Amino acid sequence: MPGQPAHVERAPMICFSGVSKAYDGAWILKQIDLTVYKGEKIALMGYSGCGKTTMLRCINGLEQCSTGQLVVNGANLSNPDLDWNRFRAGIGMVFQQFNLFPHLTVLENIVLGPVKVKKMARAAAVEKAHQLLMQVGIGDKADFYPEKLSGGQKQRVAIARSLAMEPEILLLDEPTSALDPPMSREVLAVIEQVAAQGMTLVMVTHELRFVSHLADRLVFVDGGRVVEEGCPAAILSNPQQESTRRYLEIFEQ
Ligand SMILES: Nc1ncnc2c1ncn2[C@@H]1O[C@H](COP(=O)(O)OP(=O)(O)O)[C@@H](O)[C@H]1O
Ligand SMILES: [Mg+2]
Repeated sequence: MPGQPAHVERAPMICFSGVSKAYDGAWILKQIDLTVYKGEKIALMGYSGCGKTTMLRCINGLEQCSTGQLVVNGANLSNPDLDWNRFRAGIGMVFQQFNLFPHLTVLENIVLGPVKVKKMARAAAVEKAHQLLMQVGIGDKADFYPEKLSGGQKQRVAIARSLAMEPEILLLDEPTSALDPPMSREVLAVIEQVAAQGMTLVMVTHELRFVSHLADRLVFVDGGRVVEEGCPAAILSNPQQESTRRYLEIFEQ
């Protein structure tokens, strides 16, 4: 990892070992081997349908892998005795379509997880929610319902909601794909600020400039396989695989 002395042992946070995943007999992920270390920022890239979302869904246990082993935050996800509530509380997920609860105010969207799952006292959860809303730049929107917010504001609420759980790992699935360029920039600025706090982060994105600026490692997936990975600047300027090169030609414009 850039900036880290060689003698510091890196703690694995997400470890795919020969992971494959099939839906209805069709192999979607094929023999994935990938280790993400504590504090690392990974950009997961690839064409639509290549398996990026499926990888994120396997990491947080929304999908079970069909073969291979996946260990996340110290938990082997094929362990039948795994405490899923505890496990999931350690992983935040931010979706392209925000997935806020429409019938709850911004504040209640954020307070719900810490109170229900983490059993945090409501007053403390409310205080923390206000702090997080300030942090993501919408301190004045606590009592709004999601429908009254712009897309960029909704995504900032979704990020604040994830952070309220104090996750070890934050997964972001194309968090700016549903947003126009100004709103994308606004959300990317918030993600950059979150990334600077040292959380382990895996982000699916097509924002090349952002990737070269923020990510420690670029992982390029094609047809359910990791076909290229490494330093973002090196891959972006000199991709080794034909599929990576074609992808970059399309998304560089
Ligand atoms: N629940 C599902 N059942 C069947 N096929 C699925 C399911 N989820 C995803 N797929 C298929 O798996 C492939 C990879 O999907 P996905 O991981 O969403 O790709 P990406 O996020 O890279 O666009 C696609 O062909 C998709 O149609
Ligand atoms: Mg996807």
